[in-house]
Amino acid sequence: MPADRIASHPSGPPAGPLEGPAAAPLTEAEVGAVRAQFPALSRQHDGRPYVYLDGPGGTQVPRRTIDAMADYLGRCNANHEGAFPTSEESDAMLADVHAAAADYVGAADAGEVVFGQNMTTLTFALSRAIGRTLKAGDEIVVTRLDHDANVAPWLALEEERGIRMRWVGIHEEDCTLDLDGLERSLGPRTRLVAVGLASNAVGTLNPIRQIVEMAHAAGALTYVDAVHAAPHVPLDVAALGTDFLVCSPYKFFGPHLGLLYGRRDLLQNLTAYKVRPATNEPPGKWETGTPPAESLAGLLATFGYLESLGEMSGGSGGSVVGASGPGGAGAPTTRRARLGAAMAVIGATERGLARRALRALGDVPGLRLRGVVDPNRLAERVPTFAFTLAGHSPREVATELGRRGIAVWDGDYYAYELIRALGLAESGGMVRVGFVHYNTAAEIDRLVEALGEIALRKSAGTGHA
Ligand SMILES: Cc1ncc(COP(=O)(O)O)c(C=O)c1O
Repeated sequence: MPADRIASHPSGPPAGPLEGPAAAPLTEAEVGAVRAQFPALSRQHDGRPYVYLDGPGGTQVPRRTIDAMADYLGRCNANHEGAFPTSEESDAMLADVHAAAADYVGAADAGEVVFGQNMTTLTFALSRAIGRTLKAGDEIVVTRLDHDANVAPWLALEEERGIRMRWVGIHEEDCTLDLDGLERSLGPRTRLVAVGLASNAVGTLNPIRQIVEMAHAAGALTYVDAVHAAPHVPLDVAALGTDFLVCSPYKFFGPHLGLLYGRRDLLQNLTAYKVRPATNEPPGKWETGTPPAESLAGLLATFGYLESLGEMSGGSGGSVVGASGPGGAGAPTTRRARLGAAMAVIGATERGLARRALRALGDVPGLRLRGVVDPNRLAERVPTFAFTLAGHSPREVATELGRRGIAVWDGDYYAYELIRALGLAESGGMVRVGFVHYNTAAEIDRLVEALGEIALRKSAGTGHA
């Protein structure tokens, strides 16, 4: 397909909010009921509950997801398009999970949802296909805030096809994107803007609708990485107007999978690398080989879990995404509405955790937080915090926390450009703690108490102070 065809954007300006409706946070009892559904959360460490603050690397899954995977394998494990009942049942489940995922991202058409091994693999596949339509001298915009999975696949086109990369930097003081720089990087040769919805390192939420509008005004496509945002904010490809959006179910309480939304005409017209007998229709043409069916059965159950969370919130989120019960007071009546209600209650719960974490981390001697740290700007971030602790390398801090049964990440977590832009690559990056709706205030207190102890100790001297 020629480049001018992929660069045209047929729809009008995006409408509707990305933000969820107002919702009340989960009560302590509700958090307890939520936690009881996640078997991993009952793990103990030295007689105390294990603390999972490694959510940005992958969240835990509810019991129903585990059961659905086992049930699939025990009951209807079959390859697709067979003329026998287990294959038919398996195919019906595959159709269901595409429809549920379309509801989850806000797509009208289940054929616009493609599943794959993970976001990185899907992005390499799409970037190869898009690259075939580009000419030397065409430009792609990438950012220094993004995970490398939304950078390296595009960078490969520089070497292979002479595509020019235009880089967007950050404001170091709060790790927000330099939007003026983005404006300057757009031009008549811009073909695509690759940008994240939320930073997996410092939690910054980008003004993504504005960025999509800017890209479209320049005639470019948008490829939005929503991997880090997905467990925290509602996704709405229609409201965003984005051409592509990718996320990873294992970051939002599901199995290890990748999920790509692509505009129907693009998925239809781009050339996929596929075997000859496979369908030419999306999504099948992009889902190469035999699907990871048991994981997709698990994901369907994860959507069910989120819907149950939406129902638990009594329909307070119904208005953003669809019909709710009479007068908005009852349970939301569509899957999209229940998912929207779930994300609203998740957002409200997480804001409470973020406020507490910001305050408490600020009191740890020698701790330097990066990113948006103003408690009045919580709408600009998700509750993922990255910091350094004076006198201790990030690995040393993570190891000490790990010894205490508190799981956190250290290093660059593939936010490769950001860690370099902040000058932290040589000193081991940063410690990263991430909260999701099943985390608790008590866990924040445990973290901060442990950090306080570590801060007071002399460094064991790993070389990265
Ligand atoms: C923001 C972001 N983008 C992309 C990825 C890569 O996702 P996957 O592991 O599904 O390839 C990650 C993984 O950590 C991420 O956090």
